[in-house]
Amino acid sequence: MRIRVTPGGDGEDRVDGVPIHVPGDKSIAHRWLILAATAKGRSRLVGLPPALDVRSTAGCLSRVTLKARPALDLWARNASSGVEGGGSTWNETSRDVSTHPSGAALEVEGEGREGLVEPSTDLDCGNSGTSMRLLVGLLSSGGFRSRLVGDPSLSLRPMERVAVPLREMGAAVNTHDGHAPIDVSGGPLRGIEYRLDIPTAQVKSAVLFAGLAADGTTAVTEPMATRDHTERAFEALGAPVRWGGTTVSVSRFQHEGFSATTPGDVSSAAFLIAAAALTGVELTIEDVGLNPSRLGFLDVLGRMGVVTEITVTGSQLGEPLGVIRVRAAGTLRGTTIPDAELPRVIDEVPVLAMLAACASGETWFLGAAELRLKESDRLGLLAEGIRTLGGHAAAEADDLVIAGVGLRGGAVSSHGDHRLAMAFAVAGAGAAGPCEVDGMEAAEVSYPGFVGALRSVGVRAEVLG
Ligand code: S3P
Repeated sequence: MRIRVTPGGDGEDRVDGVPIHVPGDKSIAHRWLILAATAKGRSRLVGLPPALDVRSTAGCLSRVTLKARPALDLWARNASSGVEGGGSTWNETSRDVSTHPSGAALEVEGEGREGLVEPSTDLDCGNSGTSMRLLVGLLSSGGFRSRLVGDPSLSLRPMERVAVPLREMGAAVNTHDGHAPIDVSGGPLRGIEYRLDIPTAQVKSAVLFAGLAADGTTAVTEPMATRDHTERAFEALGAPVRWGGTTVSVSRFQHEGFSATTPGDVSSAAFLIAAAALTGVELTIEDVGLNPSRLGFLDVLGRMGVVTEITVTGSQLGEPLGVIRVRAAGTLRGTTIPDAELPRVIDEVPVLAMLAACASGETWFLGAAELRLKESDRLGLLAEGIRTLGGHAAAEADDLVIAGVGLRGGAVSSHGDHRLAMAFAVAGAGAAGPCEVDGMEAAEVSYPGFVGALRSVGVRAEVLG
């Protein structure tokens, strides 16, 4: 899909002042789906996003479960229609999950970790690094073999980082030259103390999922704290988990079924907040996740001149949620994002880079080498995309530097990366002339309905075909 975004913010679908909702949090949804599929008893998950990545996790889980299989499989294949099956049900409560606060409900009958079965096919993680890494952690304790595969982008991403600690725990985990396919032969696991040399919530979480099944205590220490969704869910389910600072530990635990509503994805909200900052629209986003480990971009926005306000209104399975209001967006100015801040803004770098290109002064993202290992080489492709749109940017070793000289407009490609697609679309609202983005369908990976949501904040986005 190709779209054209015309500068300014007077699109006719604009909903100034009306509170909006974003689809459920992808990062949380992966974890809760794994926990529901391995619970002892029935779980009910409301508001799961029908994002392709989350459907990949549900699809893989359906291959290693029995009672839960029909509901997971149907949800994975068709998350926008009501289905029933096998004691588990998925009921549609809204067709338009992008504007409905609760989205759809999936009911899953779990048989505990012991109930997992050997899959008869490869487990296809699609484009989703979180699916692959978390599931390797889960499958490391199963007494069976499995093979995880991914699309060409996922097959280029580094997987030894997750294989190494799981091998140390006792599983046989074989990558191909450090990449997918990954062959897992699960078995009895022992707890380890593991020190990560890069901050990564995916690897931390994989080890913690394995730790739930291991003898003794499993502890993970990171160089910097990353998102803590796994820890929060474990604690809410009663698992013996301890965390604080940069170390988290857990020991063996079998949880029971649970009910929870997924908070809106704050990383999806970030694109609308950035668009509002460029169009001057007043924006209120409700029922959105407010986990502090995900809110670093609000601090960065504050330094750039965008005033936001958050109000916590509740929590779900340990996750705070509430309202984000965009109060005022004056003239944007550049800022520096040091490497210590990066884990808290890791997924928001693409959209922050677009704001930086429209700001005055330089913006530096320091020590951002991990961005080269995402769904694409984001460091290189962001710099290239900004230059194509008439701005000034360079990827210098591990840093990304953007000189805020404004954007002229032009035509760019998503390179199949959902966050690049959405970031370039947002850039169109702040450029001097129209921006065309090719490969916009990549947004479905995390934000189904993104183009419509963009229009709702006043952006003039037209689908060209
Ligand atoms: C995620 C962790 C981050 C993030 C990704 C989701 C997670 O990846 O970029 O989008 O859900 O744990 P890393 O762990 O590779 O930094």
